[in-house]
Amino acid sequence: MQNGKAKFVKEMFDDIHGQYDFLNTILSSGQDRRWRKLAVKEIPSHGIIIDLCAGGGEMAQAILARDSFSGTVAITDISKGMLSLTAKNLKPESQGRCFLVVCDAENLPFKNNVFSGAVSAFCLRNLTDLTKFTNEVYRCLNSGGVVRHLEIAHPPNSLLSMLFEFYFYHLSPLIARLFTSKTYAYKYLPNSLKIFPPQEKVKDTLGKGWSSVSYKNIMGGISAIYTLRKGEK
Ligand SMILES: C[S@@+](CC[C@H](N)C(=O)[O-])C[C@H]1O[C@@H](n2cnc3c(N)ncnc32)[C@H](O)[C@@H]1O
Repeated sequence: MQNGKAKFVKEMFDDIHGQYDFLNTILSSGQDRRWRKLAVKEIPSHGIIIDLCAGGGEMAQAILARDSFSGTVAITDISKGMLSLTAKNLKPESQGRCFLVVCDAENLPFKNNVFSGAVSAFCLRNLTDLTKFTNEVYRCLNSGGVVRHLEIAHPPNSLLSMLFEFYFYHLSPLIARLFTSKTYAYKYLPNSLKIFPPQEKVKDTLGKGWSSVSYKNIMGGISAIYTLRKGEK
């Protein structure tokens, strides 16, 4: 059974899935694609990688596009609507190298120690319980496994922070209104960052019990990539 936030988030993404990719690219001026490419760089090139909260499967596609990648990608999301985007977006050469699963990232339906890596993009601030989520990812990961989470963040520089907040909280909902009538979603998305903790705190929460955790700010901390490793046995 889903709690209030998970139910709202799932229904919202089901509702906006048709416009999500297009608006994401407009609102980030195409930077989202570059950030995803950076985020998948350290992911192992073999075994099964799980794309968590995958939406249209953009992270999975960035992994599958790497020449060195010989593994398989499990593309997962709580919203069937968002996963239907993945099915539409998948390149013919990627079919057969990935599979789709509708599931809650805080309650994964997989066995222990099955994935060699995990990725997520713009997922963390939509979750209800980050600790439950990171424990679930840990459980399903092989020892030696690597995780990369990409998320919008809080720039530490006060001038950049002010400019970014103006754009993210005030301008982006106005731009979204030009293209969609689902304005509640484009108010929720920036507002979800307001209550999302700063990078240090997110790092500590995600990394509890892992053998290593670090983060790297991108574009002055407009976004950040968190890297976690599960120790070898
Ligand atoms: C902002 S979108 C990001 C999609 C994609 N990762 C990307 O790179 O654009 C967030 C996604 O997280 C999914 N999501 C939110 N809560 C979830 C949960 N508890 N379990 C699985 N997916 C979830 C939503 O359905 C949505 O597709």
